[in-house]
Formats: sequence, C-alpha cells, structure tokens
Amino acid sequence: MLRVLFVGDVYGKPGRRVLASHLPTIRSQFHFVIVNGENAAGGFGLNRESFNIITRAGADCITLGNHAWHHKEVFDLLPDPRLIRPLNLPLGTPGNGFRRFDVIGDTGRSERLTVVNALGRVFMEPSGNPFTALDELLTRPDLGAVFLDFHAEATSEKAAMGQFLAGRAAAVIGTHTHVATADTRILPGGTAFQTDAGFTGPMDSVIGADPSGPVQRFTTELPHRFGVKEGAAELNGVIVHIQDGRAVQIERYHYEEEGL
Ligand SMILES: [Fe+2]
Ligand SMILES: [Fe+2]
Repeated sequence: MLRVLFVGDVYGKPGRRVLASHLPTIRSQFHFVIVNGENAAGGFGLNRESFNIITRAGADCITLGNHAWHHKEVFDLLPDPRLIRPLNLPLGTPGNGFRRFDVIGDTGRSERLTVVNALGRVFMEPSGNPFTALDELLTRPDLGAVFLDFHAEATSEKAAMGQFLAGRAAAVIGTHTHVATADTRILPGGTAFQTDAGFTGPMDSVIGADPSGPVQRFTTELPHRFGVKEGAAELNGVIVHIQDGRAVQIERYHYEEEGL
C-alpha cells in the first residue's frame, strides 16, 4: 500500500513558509508527496528558489498549471524528473506532462506511480483536450497507479474528468480554484476524487491575493495591482491510500499556522 500526500497550490511566500515548516513534521507518514507549485513564486509560477524550497521540504514531485511559464527559470528546471508540467500542450512543448515513479510502499516492495498534470479548458486559456490526452496517455504500458492533478476552473469539468477516469486512475484531484471542496470520495472502480484540494497560502485573502486589489477591481471595474497577502497561512491537501493501483481511502488534510 502506498500512502500519498497531495498538497494544493503553494502560493507565494506564506505558502512556501507553511510548507517548509509543516511538511517536514508529517513527511514520514507518507511514501510519496506531490505538491502543486504553480503559484509558488510570488503567486505566479515557479522559480529555482521555490523549486528548491518545495523539494527540500519533502516533495517528491511538483506539478504546475496555467501559470507554468511565468518565470523563465522554469525552462531550466523542466529536465528535472521531479517537475511535471501540464500534459495537454502542443507537441514539442519542453518538459513532461507525466512522470513514472517507483515508490517503496509499506510492504517494502517498489510500486509504480505515474503522476500527471492536465489543464481544464472551461473559463481558461486555450489548451488541448484534456480528456482525449488522458485517454491516449492511459494506453501506455507500465503506468501503474495513475495520479492526476487536474488543474481546472469549472467544477463540472473536474467532475466529468473524475467520472471519465473512474476505475482507470487511482486519483483525480482538482487544483486551481484554491478552495477545498467537501466532495471527497472514492469513485466506482477505486478512483479517489475531490473537485479541489484547496491551496497552501495566506488565509484572509482572495485566493491568495491581498483583498484590496481584487475588491477594488470588483467595485471599480478598473485594473488594480494584486499583491500576495501577508500573515498566517494554511496548508490544504488530500491523503490517498493506494493498493494495487486503486485508491482504498481518501481524506482531506488541513493545517493552519498559529500565532502569526
Ligand atoms: Fe491555476
Ligand atoms: Fe493556483
């Protein structure tokens, strides 16, 4: 059995801080840790410093999303086997949309885990069809348990992906909306599902941003500068137990900083 922790979008300095302080204290409970790092550097994208902080904290791999290309440094990082960019991008896009890992589980045996990152298309920038991309990926041999981070805006698109992969993937976990949903379940055939894992970043924010910018923008309908909210942060994710390629358990994980 594999115990896998998935941590939702790490956002800016508060997100990096709570991950770096908390993940090491729980890391030994898991065989494998996946962290979405698409907002790690200042709220947009991933740079070398944030890559190093996330991996040193205990992440075995980092997934991305619609902000994947925000920092040029990400192109130097893409050859690293721990970094996974969205799958459904044009042929020739650098990096990998999925990676196979051999993980030592609680039996002491090595078990294959394939981590995939894909982008949704509803209310998002154009990308390839994530459903057909996953269908094609699943024809490949030796994937073992497939764990998808589906980075999408629309609840319906994420729910449809869960149903589409039910019994074919071990987990379909949504990211991007930064708010954890309460629909944690195992779909028929052993697919762990949650519409959104929630994010890892500042509380009392507007999905990570200091409220002043977004509130001004909504009230005046003029553009405003967005900054990362300071102060106490939360960490959100899910824990999935996988046996023989199928999920047998999923639960939400939530931690909040205190005294900041
Ligand atoms: Fe995103
Ligand atoms: Fe995000």
